[in-house]
Amino acid sequence: MIILKRPEEIEKIRTSNVIVADILRELKEKIRPGISTLDLNRYSEEMAKKRGAKPAFKGYRGYPFALCTSVNSEVVHGMPSTRVLKSGDIVSLDFGAHHQGYYGDAAITVPVGEVTPETLLLLQTTEQSLYDGILQARAGNRLGDISAAVQNRVEAAGFSVVRDFVGHGIGRNLHEEPQIPNYGVSGRGIELKSGMVLAIEPMVNAGTYKVRVLSDGWTVVTADGRLSAHFEHTVAITKEGPVILSLGN
Ligand code: MF3
Ligand code: CO
Repeated sequence: MIILKRPEEIEKIRTSNVIVADILRELKEKIRPGISTLDLNRYSEEMAKKRGAKPAFKGYRGYPFALCTSVNSEVVHGMPSTRVLKSGDIVSLDFGAHHQGYYGDAAITVPVGEVTPETLLLLQTTEQSLYDGILQARAGNRLGDISAAVQNRVEAAGFSVVRDFVGHGIGRNLHEEPQIPNYGVSGRGIELKSGMVLAIEPMVNAGTYKVRVLSDGWTVVTADGRLSAHFEHTVAITKEGPVILSLGN
């Protein structure tokens, strides 16, 4: 069942998402060669606390950290560690906040130091595919319009879309219906309605779309060891069109 949100609820979901966006921006400013992903995790927890929000992922299905940090060939759910970032790496920062009963969820992938033009193209294409998907998040469109828009952008650039993980509805729960695949056929799927709030999150691989989960039970990596990028926004479908809730102050 898809839970539609009233405008007052959407404003509360926005509040949680602004906290997430502000934290991601501050983390991005800290990214430089020499910082560890555990340092970033610590900052994210401190910043959430200062804002009066709870890190949404910590304890979720037993996940032990506030932040997901997925480096290079890690796709999503990478766990913070003493691993130190070095120039040429890319790191996905995925953070969720719970505040006054509502969840926020967003992610960015950030280059560390100097990266190759091919790597930059992967990041730019993934972010652009997210915006292409968001533009389709309109009442009267179908879910497949979002999925196809993401997939088209990604594949036109010669990259591939991860199949095994999807975006999701969000609100009083971190994960609600519908699931939002990043591949699909326009005109297919459920009809989108005003009041839906969606976390759209393309995961894009440089090589094969195939992934596997490491023995830690969390870290998802590309099957071929090549790079992967991830961007996520929480978006409300309104009468005025799509509204990105995870934009910072
Ligand atoms: N943004 C991811 C999601 O929406 C992060 C979940 S990590 C977890 O699923 F630890 F909470 F599972
Ligand atoms: Co999400």
